[in-house]
Amino acid sequence: MKKSSIIEILITLSLVICFFILIVMRDTLSRQLFISGMFILVDIYVLIAFLSLVSDQRSKWLLAAAYIIISLYGYYGMFVAFERWRTDPGLASPLHNFTIGFAFTLLVSKFVLVLGLVIQDIGRLIYGTGQSMAGLFIDVSSENGFPQRRNFLTTAAATIAAVPFFSMLYGITFGKYNYTVEHLKLRFKDLPKAFKGLKVVQISDAHAGSWDSVDKVQQGITKINELKPDIVVFTGDLVNGNKNEIDPFINVFAAIEAPMGKYAVLGNHDYYGTPRDPNQEEAYWADFLNKYKKMGFDLILNENRAITKDGEQIKLIGVENWGAGRWFPKKGDLDKACEGCGENDFAILLSHDPTHFDEHVVDHSQKIHLTLSGHTHGMQFGVKFKNFKWSPVQYRYKKWMGLYEVKDQFLYVNRGFGFLGFPGRVGMWPEITCIELNT
Ligand SMILES: [Fe+2]
Repeated sequence: MKKSSIIEILITLSLVICFFILIVMRDTLSRQLFISGMFILVDIYVLIAFLSLVSDQRSKWLLAAAYIIISLYGYYGMFVAFERWRTDPGLASPLHNFTIGFAFTLLVSKFVLVLGLVIQDIGRLIYGTGQSMAGLFIDVSSENGFPQRRNFLTTAAATIAAVPFFSMLYGITFGKYNYTVEHLKLRFKDLPKAFKGLKVVQISDAHAGSWDSVDKVQQGITKINELKPDIVVFTGDLVNGNKNEIDPFINVFAAIEAPMGKYAVLGNHDYYGTPRDPNQEEAYWADFLNKYKKMGFDLILNENRAITKDGEQIKLIGVENWGAGRWFPKKGDLDKACEGCGENDFAILLSHDPTHFDEHVVDHSQKIHLTLSGHTHGMQFGVKFKNFKWSPVQYRYKKWMGLYEVKDQFLYVNRGFGFLGFPGRVGMWPEITCIELNT
């Protein structure tokens, strides 16, 4: 067997064994050190695969240098990501966002490539072992038992890995600001006639601390105004973890035009900046609520508002965050929010987390005709084509994007206007929802 084949097979086996050890490992520091070691192993493995694709020495050196520089930049991006999560971010820097996004991109692409190589090498190992064992009994002519790696299979694995690499590269540069309008027409038998044709525009999950360009966000806001909405609603997560993140965008949000009003609720992230010192809590929230006022948004917290037109009315109900997840705030109080609503009122509910719909809304005594939520972001990664939709987030949330109907009541889950964590969007573009109500 060739020396390179022995190294490849040994690394393959080490990676597979390391993977299983990692699953059972509990201590955080040991895990981190172990993962760091695995990263180095992965880089050696991938570099050997790339080098096998070129023949002359000069190209090998150039390729190795390029790979090492790109990988080091990726590791620096991971470091930057941890630093940003630790500190108050303010307006994000485009270069920092790109660096963090690139680290994610490289990580996913390497994972896909390594998966392709490991599958190939395990195949070689099984074939080689079979050949060697057969050689004990009969005369087998083979490459000393273990076949060489096939260049075309390595190229195929690299080509497959190029798909996430380039799509994520698009996602972190243009995709995250690729504002997409979703048009929706909903019919209700009991919609008051005066509201026939009412245009409600929904946005959600701004996560302002992740944005790195006021101009790009302004483009999204211009799209909202071009829709000429009657009402604009924002369904929570204005910030990541500090009220001041919204400061650079207050004027931009204030420029949203809606003659019948702009309304908002809080999302789980909006609570995370609450000071631990109870003496500071009141001042923090007074200032936060004041920012909503400056933007012209009426924050509805476990309350409702009557929207009137030509002597008729509908009710817009807003709840604080209520999420079924263990760590999410459960401050939403639908009973309280519905106080004063009549049995026959046409009701629209703003509730950040879509799990609230199944847990409390569907069977509530107050019929909620339409619930508007966000929260899932569509995981900022997935596929949506006509009626087909897929994202890994669907394995976590049953109702994760788009329209759902249960017992004659609708839920719409918006995939968000901003981004969080991964500073990009792939397939799950930032959304502006335009809902037209009809009878
Ligand atoms: Fe969010």
